Amino acid sequence: MPKIRLLGQGDVTDCMRLKEAAGWNQTAADWMALLAASPGGCFGVEEDGRVVASATAVADGGVGWVGMVLTDPAYRGRGLATALLGETLAYLDGVVETVKLDATAAGEPLYRKLGFVEEAVIERWVGEVPFSGAGSAGRYGGPLRHSPAVPVDVCAECEGAWGAGRAGSSAFYFGPCYGVSEAAVEGVARAVLGGRGRAMWDLFPEHPAAGVAGRLGFVPARRLLRMVRGRAVPTAGDVYAIAGFEWG
Ligand SMILES: CC(C)(COP(=O)(O)OP(=O)(O)OC[C@H]1O[C@@H](n2cnc3c(N)ncnc32)[C@H](O)[C@@H]1OP(=O)(O)O)[C@@H](O)C(=O)NCCC(=O)NCCS
Repeated sequence: MPKIRLLGQGDVTDCMRLKEAAGWNQTAADWMALLAASPGGCFGVEEDGRVVASATAVADGGVGWVGMVLTDPAYRGRGLATALLGETLAYLDGVVETVKLDATAAGEPLYRKLGFVEEAVIERWVGEVPFSGAGSAGRYGGPLRHSPAVPVDVCAECEGAWGAGRAGSSAFYFGPCYGVSEAAVEGVARAVLGGRGRAMWDLFPEHPAAGVAGRLGFVPARRLLRMVRGRAVPTAGDVYAIAGFEWG
């Protein structure tokens, strides 16, 4: 039986090793924010004195998000991710009616077996916005839908849009971002992204967000599947960039 236990701040070094093996963009600060946001919902398997598999769960606003499902390549195919998902879902089922996640091709079969179904295609777009001196003025009156625990290094707003970003280990991360018009979102995206080098933006390709990202020179790089288990809760139409695959 795998030795499953709660993850804590002392595990961040092992957790970083896991995500590096998968080539993901999260930083130690991202891990620390997740573990702080959900001290009872982040689980790991310990083998040979270190954490070799992880899964995180954050509940916010009636929806639970599963993320950071990672198994050390040397320990794959032994049921560790399946066992961790079982623990994670047992935790979330006690607090929410809806659980969602963004599945890679590697994770998707595992989630289907656990009762997740497809909600939408979600894509990672990659690009670079040269520093444009763009400013954004005015207040965004609309709702900010992400958990207050999501790390935000920089944000910008104007009448009609709000956007944020944070450092990543291989590229700057743009998101979350909300807006009522493409023009307003383009303004805050330029303000957040200008001069930050290569950046990542996770969006729904059927949404106007793809038009804005395309105009800013972003192109699709990866395709994932947003999946849901339990009561359907569609993503709000004002979401132009999600907060991260680990936050929703
Ligand atoms: C996806 C991942 C977490 C699976 O971890 P794992 O601990 O090996 O998973 P499990 O052993 O519990 O296997 C789960 C399912 O994955 C598939 N799988 C796992 N290892 C496999 C292997 N060596 N060959 C073929 N299929 C395999 C199988 O469908 C398996 O189901 P089964 O019960 O029918 O065998 C791991 O491959 C990984 O870290 N991948 C990179 C990061 C990633 O994409 N994570 C998912 C994010 S959504």
